[in-house]
Amino acid sequence: MAVAPATCAAVAVVAALAVLAAPPGACGLGRDDFPPGFLFGAATSAYQIEGAYLDDNKGLNNWDVFTHTHAGKISDGGNGDIADDHYHRYTEDVDILHNLGVDSYRFSISWARVLPSGRLGGVNSAGIAFYNRLIDALLQKGIQPFVTLNHFDIPHELETRFGGWLGAAIQEEFVYYSDICFRAFGDRVRFWTTFNEPNLFTRFQFVLGVYPPNHCSPPFGNCSSGDSGREPYIASHNILLSHAAAVHNYKANYQAKQGGSIGIVIAMKWYEPLTNTTEDVRAARRAQSFEVDWFLDPIFFGDYPRDMREIISSNLPKFTPQEKKLLQMNKVDFIGINHYTSIYAKDCIYSPCKLDTYEGNALVYTTARRNGKQIGGSTAFDTYFVVPKGIESAVMYVHDRYKNTAIYITENGYSQHSDTNIKELIINDVERVNYLHDYLSYLSSAIRKGADVRGYFVWSIVDNFEWTFGYTVKFGLYHVDFDTQERIPRMSATWYKDFLTGCRQADGLQVQSRRADS
Ligand code: BGC
Repeated sequence: MAVAPATCAAVAVVAALAVLAAPPGACGLGRDDFPPGFLFGAATSAYQIEGAYLDDNKGLNNWDVFTHTHAGKISDGGNGDIADDHYHRYTEDVDILHNLGVDSYRFSISWARVLPSGRLGGVNSAGIAFYNRLIDALLQKGIQPFVTLNHFDIPHELETRFGGWLGAAIQEEFVYYSDICFRAFGDRVRFWTTFNEPNLFTRFQFVLGVYPPNHCSPPFGNCSSGDSGREPYIASHNILLSHAAAVHNYKANYQAKQGGSIGIVIAMKWYEPLTNTTEDVRAARRAQSFEVDWFLDPIFFGDYPRDMREIISSNLPKFTPQEKKLLQMNKVDFIGINHYTSIYAKDCIYSPCKLDTYEGNALVYTTARRNGKQIGGSTAFDTYFVVPKGIESAVMYVHDRYKNTAIYITENGYSQHSDTNIKELIINDVERVNYLHDYLSYLSSAIRKGADVRGYFVWSIVDNFEWTFGYTVKFGLYHVDFDTQERIPRMSATWYKDFLTGCRQADGLQVQSRRADS
């Protein structure tokens, strides 16, 4: 194969570095370690990659407005106006996915692109046409679309009309929006999820106030309005009821003829007790209850977990008997877990501690250090650590609690800083290769222990707009040069491809490295 000299040199340097750092070969771990039909994929979300924020009649969403009015709240002042320009380059991105050998691509639909001003405005046919083109392009390459209806962004109009997720009126809006998507795309989409990480975004929006609409109260932060002890629970209540009504509609009117499935995606850290005292063991359990059970218990059992009802007390809204029935009758077909990290949990009921992390409402303090030692390797996020066994513990927890429910790992990935311009260093992401290999190993172990895990998606296919971190942190298998929009495969892309296609490329990499060595 003819390779341009510059590329060839870069590959050689990367390969030489790879030998020094000895990333795991893909040949050791492979598809054979996962059940037949297991879906391997990569994930993105609309606001983080699409750009084209004003194109073709798209309406403004909460993130468009927030990044423009609160640029100081984003590390580099960045926004998603252009991002990866995926709206115009989606065919190139589909080719990249195809070349990697993935079975599925997880992406989200921009609500404001489909309904620029919500239910009261018209449907934007250009928005529908874009997602039709994307879905068709994926299917032509044999890639299953795995579609998220809501990944943090809502039409700005809904924020101004009734306070977004704080207003009960949003339930009807979400059902209307999801119905349009089922009707327009459901003939070709086999995998739907209603929400991405409602348990994370409500905390970021209403406990810490770092996401729009920037609401919080002390000790969590100083925002101009908000109530960190109450608002996250009002929002989550509206989200749960929106979810249940949308699932009900899908199951009643679409599922039988379209043959798809529907689930919800929850963010899930693994909480390890800081010490083996009963108090810390209970604190770790309680933190999980406030993280995962908060959303999944109502869906599976019809109500919030008991410790939440006791601690949050009158600030936690109550479900009516009818709502409980709606929730339980419309169980999800699968649970999506986004898992990145683990952390230690310390009790704050019996011993006083600072309650300013978002686990504060659970009376839990989290820390990465036990006896001075960090729980795992560092990443670009100072609260995310590399603890591969955590994915096994997280999956087993969900498997045990929500029995017989299929699980997809809808996100897992490693963040690196973007503080270097040296291409070789940006591309030589040995740490990401190690991270993916080790997390996948523990995932296969959870499957051997009986968990019904059916798919795994790397976050992310390309570097993208990382919310409040802007473009300062990178998660991509592909490096993106945001000046030129060039996508450049990292070592992890080659590794994932080898993993998926069975080592053909890995042999090539070794030959290159020997050459670089001699
Ligand atoms: C979100 C993604 C985000 C990723 C890395 C998840 O919480 O779903 O949008 O980019 O984590 O921070």
